Amino acid sequence: MKAGSMQTVFPYRESDRGDEQLLRAAERASDAPVMLIRLRPGTKVTKRPGQENFNYGDYYAFSKICTHLGRPASLYDSQDHISLCPCHQSQFLITDSAKPIFGPATRALPQLPITVNDEGYFVARGDFIEPIGPHSGNAITMSGIRANQVSGDADDRIERFKSRLLEGAGVAE
Ligand code: FES
Repeated sequence: MKAGSMQTVFPYRESDRGDEQLLRAAERASDAPVMLIRLRPGTKVTKRPGQENFNYGDYYAFSKICTHLGRPASLYDSQDHISLCPCHQSQFLITDSAKPIFGPATRALPQLPITVNDEGYFVARGDFIEPIGPHSGNAITMSGIRANQVSGDADDRIERFKSRLLEGAGVAE
């Protein structure tokens, strides 16, 4: 996995290993997708108190399920370290504990504590310690982008984000 890249992974329970049906069910679970992100060495990171050891070196794992309405936060901008949910444009700053910095989401993406086992595989050291996706306390509605979040800076960031995605996909603007 290259520094500055993201891969979607589907963690499963060790007890499910070898059982194809259970593994497929784990893969299809709506809260299953996790972003495994490898930051570039030396990237400055702010960690949440109590989660200082959730990463493994430059590798960080966050739920891919948007905390707004549960769609996949599927786009990753490795230059600004932002994960974007295309559904209603929420943006999460990965280098600051995946906290929301724009859009209707009000809660950070939960982080999965990870390490590497003796065989060299990434494993979770435990489950998420907070709910995945939206939860009942999220009072922001689908169209409820907070007025104080709509700023020139944020608009510029979205435009930069879109143009990088187009460049990355080899699509001419
Ligand atoms: S579901 Fe992600 S911004 Fe609405």
